[in-house]
This record gives sequence, structure tokens and C-alpha cells, in this order.
Amino acid sequence: MTSQFLTITRPDDWHLHLRDGDALTAVVGDTARQFARAIVMPNLKPPVTTVAMARAYQTRIEQALAKVGIADGQFKPLMTLYLTDNTDPAEIVQAKESGAAVAVKLYPAGATTNSDAGVTDLLGRCAKTLEEMQRVGMPLLVHGEVTDPAVDVFDREALFIERVMIPLRQAFPELRVVFEHLTTKDGVDYVREASGPIAATITAQHLLYNRNAIFQGGVRPHWYCLPILKREVHRQALVDAATSDSPRFFLGTDSAPHARGLKEHACGCAGCYTALHAMELYATAFDRVGKIDKLEAFASHRGPDFYGLPRNTDRITLERTSFLIPNEIPYGSETLVPLAAGETLSWRLV
Ligand code: DOR
Ligand code: ZN
Repeated sequence: MTSQFLTITRPDDWHLHLRDGDALTAVVGDTARQFARAIVMPNLKPPVTTVAMARAYQTRIEQALAKVGIADGQFKPLMTLYLTDNTDPAEIVQAKESGAAVAVKLYPAGATTNSDAGVTDLLGRCAKTLEEMQRVGMPLLVHGEVTDPAVDVFDREALFIERVMIPLRQAFPELRVVFEHLTTKDGVDYVREASGPIAATITAQHLLYNRNAIFQGGVRPHWYCLPILKREVHRQALVDAATSDSPRFFLGTDSAPHARGLKEHACGCAGCYTALHAMELYATAFDRVGKIDKLEAFASHRGPDFYGLPRNTDRITLERTSFLIPNEIPYGSETLVPLAAGETLSWRLV
């Protein structure tokens, strides 16, 4: 008989969008119920580019946690800085020494939501900052897509490896790099085989769905995120990587809430809301290939190991039982549609 319960070390989310204001208050509890820590993305308007801004944002997150009844210290947001063409190397040193930010996020300018202030020419404009990051051991979290409009949207990650990732890591071989939300077999192969300090996060949607999901029975905007879902061969490579024993692949939901009206729109926003049911989604994906026993390493061990942080000591339990994903949840004065709303998963957090 297959076992009904799975108890694992409490996981962390190594890639999360929490937003700000009422949206932050609406979503932060979903993450804090499951995860002990999360790497919080800095793509606010305006972006979080300085230590002072990261500190202020952290305080707003802590206030939101208190507002929704999460006990002090139960959940720790790990802050990041948004890399720009003009990031001062001194800011890196200050972030590292104070612990005010644990990583720096690279958005190629124009790649995705709120990335207008992103980097236009990484090696040309950011070399001094990257050098300082390499020196002090500050990880670079990479949104790995080229922004060249001539490149097919489904090829943008694969091309990024050739055009940006390889030259970057040749120039800074000791720089700690996380290839965020990996979506292709090309990316998996690169991360698995590359030398030096590199890892990658993988979302639940990229493990569960291929690009057909976006078009099943009509355009389905809640399956639209960036990098976009790819072909089945890529999904399978991601499942292989996540459920393997490689220490380089770990959990990052990229949960990215947008109000229902902005998703179901003539020009719908990119992002899947998965914070509500993240562990249930991942457990379903691992269980489908008979690898539920690999979930703990992926969700709870490899991330802290890469970041040089202690693993969590408390535990969570998932139960094998059907779980109906709600059609929508409140989001300030609007609503939010979770990924796969109305569908049933085979695991539920106890
Ligand atoms: O789908 C996405 N949504 N991809 C990103 O890179 C950003 C995110 C967001 O902030 O909405
Ligand atoms: Zn993201």
C-alpha cells in the first residue's frame, strides 16, 4: 500500500513575488503557511535597488505578516536587490555585511513584468558590480531570457545561455549564479554540466504543464508566465532534473500574483499564482513519476545548502487526499485566480 502521509523538513521558496500594499497583505500568508523562508523578488514599482529600499520593504512584509496573524519569526523574507546599469558596487558590500539582502537579481531590460529599469548590457555596464559580488560571495539570480524582439519567445532561454550566461561565467568564474525558473532541456543540460558555483530553481507549473496548457480549449491566460511554458520534451527534462540527485536544482515557485482583471485582459500580465497550493502542486508533480521520496531534497535541503544557510529544523506533513483548488481568492479589492483553479490535486498540506 502506498503511504498516505509524507512528513518532510519545512521547505523554503527560493523565488517569490510578494508585491506590496494590499496585494502583499493578501498573499503573504499563503507562503508563510508552508515555507519558513522565501527569496523575495525586487521588481516593485519602483524597483528595490538599494539596501535602504530592501530594509524598508522587509519591514512592510513583516507588518503584513503581523496583520494576517503570522507569529513573529515564523517566516523570514530574504531580500534581494534589483541590478541596474548603475548599481553601485558599494551597495553590494553594504548588503553583504549587513545581511539586508542575500542576493542580486538580474532582469534583462524589458524581459518581463516591471523590468524597464533592468540591465541593458551586463558585461559592458555591470562589470565592477559583478566583480564585487564575486569577491564577497553575493549570488546573482538570473532571469535568463534574451530580450531581442527578433528571437522567438520559445527560444529566448536557450539563446540566453549562448549569448549571456556562458560569457558571464567565463568572465566571473567564481560568481555564484542561480539560473531562475528554468524552462528548457537546454537550460537543464547547461546547469547540470557547467563547472563552478551554479544552481537553478524550477517552478511547479513548468513541472506539471507544457505549452499546450496555454491553449487548451481556448486561450487560458492563467497559464501564461515568463519564461513561457515550453514543449513536452522540456517539461520532461525539468522533471528529471528536479527528481534527480543533483544538488543544483531546487524549489522556486515564481508565484507571481496579478489581479484577475489584469490576467483576463486583451494584453494579460505574465505570472502564475501558485503560493496558495505550492507544496501540493510540487507533490503532485513528483508523485506522478513515482518520485515523491525526492521531494524533500528538492524543497528543503538543496536551496539552503547552495545559499550557505542552515536547513530548517521543523517539519510539515502532506496527506495523499484530493484537494479542490478554489476558483478564486480575495486580492485586496479584487480577486486572484490560482493556477489550475477548479482542478483537483492528489495531495494536501495538513
Ligand atoms: O511570469 C512572470 N511574472 N515572470 C516574471 O519574470 C515576473 C513575474 C511577475 O513579476 O509578475
Ligand atoms: Zn519571478
